[in-house]
Amino acid sequence: MPTRRNAGRRGAGSRHRYRYLLGDSRREAARLRAQARLWDPVATALFDRLRVRRGWKVLEIGPGQGSLHMELRRRVGGPVDAVERSPAFAARLRRLCARDRFGPDHIFVNDLLDAPLPRRTYDLVFARWVFLFLPDPEAHLRKLVRALRPGGLLAIEDYHRETFALIPRPREWADLMAADRAFFASQGGDASIGGRLPELYRRAGLEIVAIDPNLKVGRPGSPVWRWLSTYFLGVLDRYAEHPPLTRGKAARLRRRFLAAARADTSLMIAPAVIDVIGRKPL
Ligand SMILES: C[S@@+](CC[C@H](N)C(=O)[O-])C[C@H]1O[C@@H](n2cnc3c(N)ncnc32)[C@H](O)[C@@H]1O
Repeated sequence: MPTRRNAGRRGAGSRHRYRYLLGDSRREAARLRAQARLWDPVATALFDRLRVRRGWKVLEIGPGQGSLHMELRRRVGGPVDAVERSPAFAARLRRLCARDRFGPDHIFVNDLLDAPLPRRTYDLVFARWVFLFLPDPEAHLRKLVRALRPGGLLAIEDYHRETFALIPRPREWADLMAADRAFFASQGGDASIGGRLPELYRRAGLEIVAIDPNLKVGRPGSPVWRWLSTYFLGVLDRYAEHPPLTRGKAARLRRRFLAAARADTSLMIAPAVIDVIGRKPL
């Protein structure tokens, strides 16, 4: 793990030290597919509002397992460019694209800051759950703004984690939330980047078109409960390396998650996902 000392020095100039925190293991790929099944209707509603249509030139950042990428291809009726740093995820995307009739994509298998993107090209750039990982989001946004054509749209869906709650609330909750923030900050990211995007868009020269929140709440056994428990129980041991969480507190939290799952009055209120749409001025 990076130390706090070197995490503080991360930025555009040190981007080659960026390490994507969740990796591309088969287990993570399966988690991403399950998460996408729950959240894809929210993204397709966003595509409806954006009126994505045939012939648009679209770029997706970090398509992961590719469900939304395939949806974008259907909507534009052709290939969609992508930047995906994982060679394994990029290879899966190529296999998926070979199965529909819309032709091969241009996939930049790079970290976004290193991708040789064309300028003034795209009608739409889309990213879900990528910006929370990125150091120096302003540099990444400026790069995407350069790639948009004048009048083109940037649509990002990302978290505001502070809404996350387990009810009944475990005593260690504040420590879990602090460890969650520290985990993403260890690579220069911000787990609550969603709420900061409007101001970051403005600084990058975009006009704000819309800001729409999405909030899910789940009871034990529900898809929302399964989604959040899979993630948080899966990362608890890694989070325990980030004070003030400790191994002991992480073990107690695990027991409290499992006990809450057995009570039918328990609730999980999810991290909010905020859709932020901006336009490059003409
Ligand atoms: C949490 S996953 C989200 C995947 C997908 N967007 C979704 O909504 O299911 C983050 C994705 O972004 C990719 N990624 C992370 N950092 C990246 C970077 N700097 N440049 C390009 N891709 C990146 C990861 O490999 C992964 O596919």
